[in-house]
Amino acid sequence: MTVAKPASRPNVPHFSSGPCAKRPGWNPQNLKDAALGRSHRAKVGKAKLKLAIELTREVLEVPADYKIGIVPASDTGAVEMALWSLLGPRPVTTIAWESFGEGWVSDIVKELKLKDVVKLHAGYGEIPDLSKADKNSDIVFTWNGTTSGVRVPNADWIRDDREGLTICDATSAAFAQPLDWPKLDVVTFSWQKALGGEAAHGMLILSPRAVARLESYTPPWPLPKIFRMTKGGKLNAGIFEGETINTPSMLCVEDYLDALNWAKSVGGLKALIARADASTKVLADWKARTPWVDFLAADPAIRSNTSVCMKVVDPAITALSADAQADFAKKLVAAVEKEGAGYDFAHYRDAPAGLRIWCGATVEARDVEVLTQWIDWAFAETKASLAKAA
Ligand SMILES: Cc1ncc(COP(=O)(O)O)c(C=O)c1O
Repeated sequence: MTVAKPASRPNVPHFSSGPCAKRPGWNPQNLKDAALGRSHRAKVGKAKLKLAIELTREVLEVPADYKIGIVPASDTGAVEMALWSLLGPRPVTTIAWESFGEGWVSDIVKELKLKDVVKLHAGYGEIPDLSKADKNSDIVFTWNGTTSGVRVPNADWIRDDREGLTICDATSAAFAQPLDWPKLDVVTFSWQKALGGEAAHGMLILSPRAVARLESYTPPWPLPKIFRMTKGGKLNAGIFEGETINTPSMLCVEDYLDALNWAKSVGGLKALIARADASTKVLADWKARTPWVDFLAADPAIRSNTSVCMKVVDPAITALSADAQADFAKKLVAAVEKEGAGYDFAHYRDAPAGLRIWCGATVEARDVEVLTQWIDWAFAETKASLAKAA
């Protein structure tokens, strides 16, 4: 069956899960006030870094007694800093259901070599039994698994009377999904995700309990300067007021400020979440009328509204080998890319074959709608050329 080529393209054809689409109306001119060529320790530079922290608190609705720091090496840097600085004194529960979560497990077990580790694991499209997480252990998990499109449904499974810390990689959840702050002791994300900022800078948010751990526990392993959050046994408070450990890009800082101001202008966190939900609904409606596509996450309660992962369920395609299915998905995406109608929405390299369409707050629902028309077209074309080759 042939499908006519759609008449129009998305206004912004960017559907990558990171770096994500810039905010609507983004323009390099918006960065003209960047403190370029100035020291980040000068009054002007420090004021911008402090403002980035203050606006993060405002938009993400972070409690006043939580500390917010700008740290090196993007989300990975922030997570590693937390793992290496905080883990060790208690048993650890790791909860992982896709590639990034598994990466943290590997670091905890193989690099930090912690022995008392309970692993709760599920495959792509599913989530482990969260109620099994021991409240006396430190719990490490990802709020939204970017490569499988599965998120935790909520944080009700985390106890208020927990003795351990919860360390949460929220990089593809922040600014698109509600984070339950009282249940979270460490939260990390990077600027490049749901606000469409630039990569390389990470955010590390600490609860008072996480700060107490930092001030009462010294890990037995050496900590590189880039990970050190304490000085003489006390929290290095400067990091959480804009005195970064090393030099940040003031251009990226300006871009993050622009993204945060845009977030405020559209109505703050609630509006950002609604925007992601609206784009995800476009995909749910498309799925409902399209027999060959389905969500990787069968359960809507754990389905992401940012990194939405979908699979091809057409019997002619599912009959193929895993490699051939991956090849089909890549060809389908390449056909859309060639038309300039949508970029970077194929499955993650370690994930099951299919589509991963970013629906975070900077994406417009109407662009997702137009993208689905192009995918319908590309599916028919790719399937036809497969049949021809057979
Ligand atoms: C859940 C998750 N954790 C960590 C990362 C790594 O982030 P970064 O490259 O910003 O360090 C990503 C990137 O996509 C991610 O999705």
